Amino acid sequence: MKLVLERASELPLYRQLAEQIREYIRSGALSPGTRLPTVRQLAAEHGITRLTVQTAFNELQALGLVESFVGRGSFVAEKPPVALTAPLKLREGAQPPPQWFSQTLFADMLRLADHPDLISMVSAIPEGNAIPLPELQRQLKQAARDISAFMYGPAQGEPELREEIAHLLLDRGIVTSPDTVLITTGAQQGMDIVLRTLATPDEVLVVEEPTYPGVIELAAQRQQRVVGVPVDEHGIMLERLEEVCKTYRPCLVYTIPTFHNPTGVSLSSERRQQILQMARTYDFYLIEDDVYGFLSYREPAPLALKSLDAEGRVIYLLGFSKILAPGLRLGALVAGNGLLPEILSTKRTSDLTCSPILQRCLSGYLRKRHLTTHLQKLRHFYQERLEAVCGAAEIHLSGCGWRKPEGGLCFWVNLPQGINERDFYLEAAERGVGIMPGRAFFPQLRHEAYMRLSFGSNPPQRLIQGISLLGELLEEHGRRRLALASRAGRAVAQVV
Ligand SMILES: Cc1ncc(COP(=O)(O)O)c(C=O)c1O
Repeated sequence: MKLVLERASELPLYRQLAEQIREYIRSGALSPGTRLPTVRQLAAEHGITRLTVQTAFNELQALGLVESFVGRGSFVAEKPPVALTAPLKLREGAQPPPQWFSQTLFADMLRLADHPDLISMVSAIPEGNAIPLPELQRQLKQAARDISAFMYGPAQGEPELREEIAHLLLDRGIVTSPDTVLITTGAQQGMDIVLRTLATPDEVLVVEEPTYPGVIELAAQRQQRVVGVPVDEHGIMLERLEEVCKTYRPCLVYTIPTFHNPTGVSLSSERRQQILQMARTYDFYLIEDDVYGFLSYREPAPLALKSLDAEGRVIYLLGFSKILAPGLRLGALVAGNGLLPEILSTKRTSDLTCSPILQRCLSGYLRKRHLTTHLQKLRHFYQERLEAVCGAAEIHLSGCGWRKPEGGLCFWVNLPQGINERDFYLEAAERGVGIMPGRAFFPQLRHEAYMRLSFGSNPPQRLIQGISLLGELLEEHGRRRLALASRAGRAVAQVV
């Protein structure tokens, strides 16, 4: 198999590679079952990175042309290629899942996030050394002394943990009793069980636009219609929300009012009052996702929307992934007494209960008030990273739009016009930088291009290096566009 790669071509290297191999397969020159050279061999032979070859192989795999087996290598697929995912049977009137959902792009992104050679700004997660390992290990050991920690526990969660969480929530302005707290497998499970309890798939789920991809994917799997309401610098735009309420009469509105993922903005205090009023007027529940609420870098964070909720319109979600350790898989849901029993039944059918041993580890940690000092450290730790990102963006991302967030872990960038997000994301990966393309955050396709950079999991120098590489790539795209425009101009001139 002879492959020719042209570095000066407008086509990214991974695409050139994928298209040439695809042509060999399509023409029959490579027959089913043929073993392909390894990623390492192709990379060495052509002087390109392994990531470039791997990206090309991923594309071919996604098309059903190549099959890869751990330890054995990659082969031309035995069966004729079929559509990657069997088309979903949609209920009448249901909205097809967003395009990226069926394109393995999301799976690719998550795979890439773990690639050791990559400066990955893909996932909004803490770096390993931000996790207070010795104290968690001590608490885990302590919890493991009691045999009951290895049995099933109450579906609502361990009483001591619910008590500690009710105490912790005072810092977010929420005064509640442990009886209204349900322990969940992270905030993600909170969303899932609320949706399953309160909305039939026929009902519209309203979300901010952009929003957290996990909620879009969740709704897509339920074939639930998602309607987005745009966000400006003060949070969700309420006139637009009102229009949506009048048209669709939704029963649930999902919002991240504090340090929103991906934009980093917080809902203004005026809008907090107004959205609660709107929930009463149009009779919907708000799901408040507060996973970033404790991560403020300048002013104290705005208090939770739930703290203003006199009528029980807000179902509050907390998670410990961003502030302690994602591997604990623990979070909490707070809902009024009227809603909790039904939500609790859904939780029971979902996983019976969260792991008692992990809950006891967490409650021991919280009881010793370790989280307060840990959060202070964490805020300095992330603030330093955010400053590095903003400094690097000033220098390298001119031509892009961005705003400095006051908290959270996300840096949202509006890319210059004409950039294709998917190509940009894949080329960035080729250069060794992982980003999250903007399309993952929108329920519907739209024209503007964005990327999200998560700054939690890399030290400042690596973030600066990553952003400088992105800057070089943007410049290259700019030059390519100019070259194309001038060629098009010449062609027009010739025709004229
Ligand atoms: C807004 C938002 N909600 C929920 C989650 C998932 O949180 P958990 O790990 O607590 O399930 C994430 C993770 O990135 C997130 O950004």
